[in-house]
Amino acid sequence: MRSQLILVEGVPLSDIIAPHWQEIHNFQARPGDVLIATYPKSGTTWLQEMVEMIRHNGDLEKCQQAPIYERIPFIELLQCMPPDAETVNALPSPRYLKTHLPYQLVPSSFWDHNCKVIYLARNARDAATSYYHFDHIAKLHPEPGSWDQYLQRFMSGNVGWGSWYDHVKGFWEEKDKHDMLYLFYEDIKQDPASEIRKIIRFLGKDLPDATIEKIVHCTSFSQMKKNAMANYSTFPKEILDQSQQTFMRKGQVGDWKNLFTVRQNELFEEDYRKKMNQTTLKFKVSI
Ligand code: A3P
Repeated sequence: MRSQLILVEGVPLSDIIAPHWQEIHNFQARPGDVLIATYPKSGTTWLQEMVEMIRHNGDLEKCQQAPIYERIPFIELLQCMPPDAETVNALPSPRYLKTHLPYQLVPSSFWDHNCKVIYLARNARDAATSYYHFDHIAKLHPEPGSWDQYLQRFMSGNVGWGSWYDHVKGFWEEKDKHDMLYLFYEDIKQDPASEIRKIIRFLGKDLPDATIEKIVHCTSFSQMKKNAMANYSTFPKEILDQSQQTFMRKGQVGDWKNLFTVRQNELFEEDYRKKMNQTTLKFKVSI
């Protein structure tokens, strides 16, 4: 069974999430909580695993005690599957949490308590490509249809969690008003150690170079792909059917070139310029 999208405050959300909007909106963040915020398919799980390795000072065993979605709960899913709200409430501080909500829908308690936020953005073409593949296996969203249809939906923001353009700009424009670190997938891919150092500093920690090297290694695509506590292989199959394709797909920058036709790329670029012309936010589309 496929879910449909329902507009919540103008943003399309899966109909397994939308009915719980009031509880999500009222989520009670606590001082010290750290929020990982991303548009879907931007490398959220990658960042989560890095943050976990940093939290545990590079101790992989400690990171393997539970699947990543239990170690860093997803606030939109607390009413749908474990860990539930009560479990998350009982977690000791500081809690590490994940959301895909756009800036304007983030529960205000995160801002009220001046929580640290790590935002990770990925270039639109690769995000759209990854999302298209993901929506084949993610039952919480409608069938993706053809790539051409999907690309139109992506460009108009008619996909789960809405417009990529509004999402990345929303956090970018507001980042200086909050305790927020804004990162890019492409930068982590290019120089993971340097981006991991930024996260370590942001979280107020200090780790030796050898630990940073270990974190780079353990969070590489090849290591995470075979790590059952990081690769979503334990996730409920009713929501994520990985029989045809796995969650850990390619993990590359520029895979969009295998999907976009020349014409689609031209139309995408024309539309992109219109939507992104007022912002200073710039992305790499290849490295
Ligand atoms: P692809 O579909 O392009 O392979 P999210 O966690 O936000 O859903 O993002 C998933 C995307 O991040 C997928 O992209 C996935 O393969 C990629 N990813 C996950 N772990 C990664 C890693 N260690 N290095 C690079 N990319 C990773």
